Amino acid sequence: MSLVPLSAALRERTRDAHSTSEGAGFMSALLKGERSRDDYVSLVAQHYFVYEALESATDRMRRDPVAARFISDKLTRLPALIADLDFLIGPDWSERIHPLPATAEYVARIEQVGSTWVGGFVAHHYTRYLGDLSGGQHIGRVMQRRFGFDTNGIGFYVFADIADPAAFKDVYRDELDAAPWDDGETERVIAEVLLAYDFNTRLFDDLARAADAAVA
Ligand code: HEM
Repeated sequence: MSLVPLSAALRERTRDAHSTSEGAGFMSALLKGERSRDDYVSLVAQHYFVYEALESATDRMRRDPVAARFISDKLTRLPALIADLDFLIGPDWSERIHPLPATAEYVARIEQVGSTWVGGFVAHHYTRYLGDLSGGQHIGRVMQRRFGFDTNGIGFYVFADIADPAAFKDVYRDELDAAPWDDGETERVIAEVLLAYDFNTRLFDDLARAADAAVA
């Protein structure tokens, strides 16, 4: 077993990938108020495809004893995303949204590891949900102010069943540190988290390109 707990190794070794993702032009512009409501809606739409894949994988992984330690219904985002899209786009939202190329690749990867590899599933689960419980909370508040939403439209960021996100993340990190993975598997999990960050960065880049093409 490695001397460095997995949660600490992940923080350390994904710091640069996190900064790249966080600093992606689309995200920083959205947070600075330099992107439109339509651009925000496009982000919500891409999240829908990602969480549809992630939460289908979650259902398949529920019976695995290691995966089950990370799974909690308190995290489920798909109903909130559907309600947000219904509010933001209207009842025909599902006919009006399409995955961008990076999203399609991200979804394919989640589907692949989500059926075959517990460590890979946990890597994707960690990257999305711990991010949503961290920076996501800030992003939700900024979008709420910027676009004048109440809770309609930003439901994705509201974890109604998690009163204390910091405490929830601490328990999650304890589970990461207790995972029964040898050094080789731990390395593969860290590599998969880096891949997940890369998908998120490319998704932002695709969103920026699509938005710029729409106004050109
Ligand atoms: C503008 C965008 C973002 C901001 C402002 C932001 C901000 C933050 C902050 C402040 C933390 C530390 C929270 C803590 O120590 O408890 C954090 C953690 C985290 N973020 Fe982000 N983030 C952003 C984007 C992203 C993206 C795109 C992802 C990947 C999908 C991501 C994934 C994560 C993860 C997994 C953690 C937990 C790290 C850990 O403690 O293990 N973040 N974020």
